[in-house]
Amino acid sequence: MHRFLFKGKELHCESVPVSRIAKSVGTPFYLYSIQTFLDHFLKLKKAFASVEPLICFSMKANSNLTVLKALVNQGSGLDIVSGGELHKARKVGVDPKKIVFASVGKTETEIEEAVRCGILMFNVESSQELDVINKVAFRLKKIQKVAIRLNPDVKSGTHQYITTGTKQNKFGLDIGTVYKLFMESYRYPHLRLAGVHMHIGSQITNSKPFIEAIRKALAFIDSVRFSGNPVEYLNIGGGLGIIYSNEKPQSAQDFAEAILPLFKKYNLGKDLKLVLEPGRFVSGNSGILVTKVLYHKTTPTKLFVIVDGGMNDLIRPSFYGAHHEIVPIIKGRGKTVYRHVDVVGPICESGDFLAKDRKLAAVSEGDLLAVMSCGAYGSVMSSNYNSRPRVPEVVVKGGRFFIARRRENRDDLTRLERIVKEVV
Ligand code: LLP
Repeated sequence: MHRFLFKGKELHCESVPVSRIAKSVGTPFYLYSIQTFLDHFLKLKKAFASVEPLICFSMKANSNLTVLKALVNQGSGLDIVSGGELHKARKVGVDPKKIVFASVGKTETEIEEAVRCGILMFNVESSQELDVINKVAFRLKKIQKVAIRLNPDVKSGTHQYITTGTKQNKFGLDIGTVYKLFMESYRYPHLRLAGVHMHIGSQITNSKPFIEAIRKALAFIDSVRFSGNPVEYLNIGGGLGIIYSNEKPQSAQDFAEAILPLFKKYNLGKDLKLVLEPGRFVSGNSGILVTKVLYHKTTPTKLFVIVDGGMNDLIRPSFYGAHHEIVPIIKGRGKTVYRHVDVVGPICESGDFLAKDRKLAAVSEGDLLAVMSCGAYGSVMSSNYNSRPRVPEVVVKGGRFFIARRRENRDDLTRLERIVKEVV
């Protein structure tokens, strides 16, 4: 469920007509319903309430400060992946004890910043990384908690680019290696090997792969505990799928009911703490991209609707062949329906499309289209390709809208550059 609904003929975000916002901020722009973020976060929180997990919103999906602050105010922690995300996390005042830090390539500087800041835990991806965190913690006279990322080698059935838990992937370590690291924990006197982390992929629509991975992780935890190492945390990552078109993903409640029985003997919430890192589940359906039709043209083989938003604004269709519903924000203007239309942007690439061979209500120049389900991996993956300024992010709460990130301007495009006199 989300709060982008038609009232009469007009698409609204919560109770604001999208056309009103477009008139004020111009197009293209990202539009977020703050209440939808909160609804999804709270659904997950409620479904798992009995075991009081730490839910760390995965801010790589959407790192808009207003969005983050709204989630943090509801008790969310944050899953970060870089020093930049740590910086933004601190800006929104999240309790450092609710920050977990994953990345296969954390630099020593990033590690030092995170240890200094007192984050809860690193999700560690290699033995060399353990050495670096141990060295930094020693230097700073701290004991740092870490979880080791286990690669459980399960197929999650999602797009190959967003599968992360099979042995072909760069993520995590195999069970044997993780076991060895736990057995050698004495080599890291400034670390507490406190947990096991997993993240098996993204946009996973059924619970089966999670169940398989969690079973493996729990069997692993049993064996590590048997040899005398307490394991306090199991972080099962993110990955919950959402509806883009006709998927039928598990709900938060389904998910909790499917996995919680696996933990029966673990006294979850007390002897073993659960950490979740949802990104898309919370944010995916909470945002849209609004774009304007510039032209349309018919070639002997195709009909193209050319819009002012391109692959630099939303790369998911080009990059993953991802499907995003596209709807005119005013219903019923065009009586006819295009059957096989490509909705394309202004970028000089044939891969610059938002939709291919799509059925779409006929549109005219100047009409506004909503590209749905763009709240996750939308704005955060945008770029300045073709020297296009990044588009603004607008938030709605109830009946009001606010610009949360302004549109970049021409000066922003050249701000970091200089013409090097010595070479011209
Ligand atoms: N935890 C870790 C360690 C992750 O790597 C990710 C996402 C998440 C949590 C959150 O996953 P989610 O709940 O959002 O599925 N750009 C791609 C998705 C890449 C996901 C990367 N990792 C896309 O647009 O589909």
